[in-house]
Amino acid sequence: MEVVVLRLSHRAARDKRITTHVALVARAFGADKIVITGDPDSRIIEGINEVTSRWGGDFRSEYHATYRSVLKEYKDKGFEVIHLTMYGIPIQDVAGKLRASKRDKLIIVGGEKVPGEVFEIADYNIAVTNQPHSEVSSLAILLDRLFNGEELGRTFPNAEIKVIPQERGKKFMPPMSFSYQKKR
Ligand SMILES: C[S@@+](CC[C@H](N)C(=O)[O-])C[C@H]1O[C@@H](n2cnc3c(N)ncnc32)[C@H](O)[C@@H]1O
Repeated sequence: MEVVVLRLSHRAARDKRITTHVALVARAFGADKIVITGDPDSRIIEGINEVTSRWGGDFRSEYHATYRSVLKEYKDKGFEVIHLTMYGIPIQDVAGKLRASKRDKLIIVGGEKVPGEVFEIADYNIAVTNQPHSEVSSLAILLDRLFNGEELGRTFPNAEIKVIPQERGKKFMPPMSFSYQKKR
């Protein structure tokens, strides 16, 4: 199953950090790709690609000026379209159905106001609680429910560096000097 995240309406002046976090969560929690729409912002794509080349895996990122052509492309390819919104159906009521369907998934997260047609085009409008919070948290929880926690143990092939987990302190493979770690 391929999982692609569509980030709507990126604003270069305001959303650099949160869009980067959406992309980092998408990669770390098992999605295959992010498509960013809204303002062009090459810093975001470069930043994500740099993380992938250092930390491994084959996560991909793309920019498209408008979301409509992206939605049409993935709908035509047979992807199930899941829109994350606080107005949707509680995730706990649909997670089992999502896991049972082996169709590829396009997961949409909004930024500023989400156009009404997105609610209509989506196969599912899903809420992670019906309280307002963030695209970062809702994406993490959706991916975790979709993969049933298995993404937590995922490995990222061809990593230049990886963390060796330990109870205290920081350990990397290959070992790095403290000054090198601080630059990252
Ligand atoms: C900060 S919210 C802005 C929402 C915006 N005011 C609107 O009209 O939709 C940005 C995005 O976070 C996600 N989000 C926020 N709260 C959510 C929730 N409770 N459940 C699912 N997604 C949520 C949605 O994808 C939303 O588009």
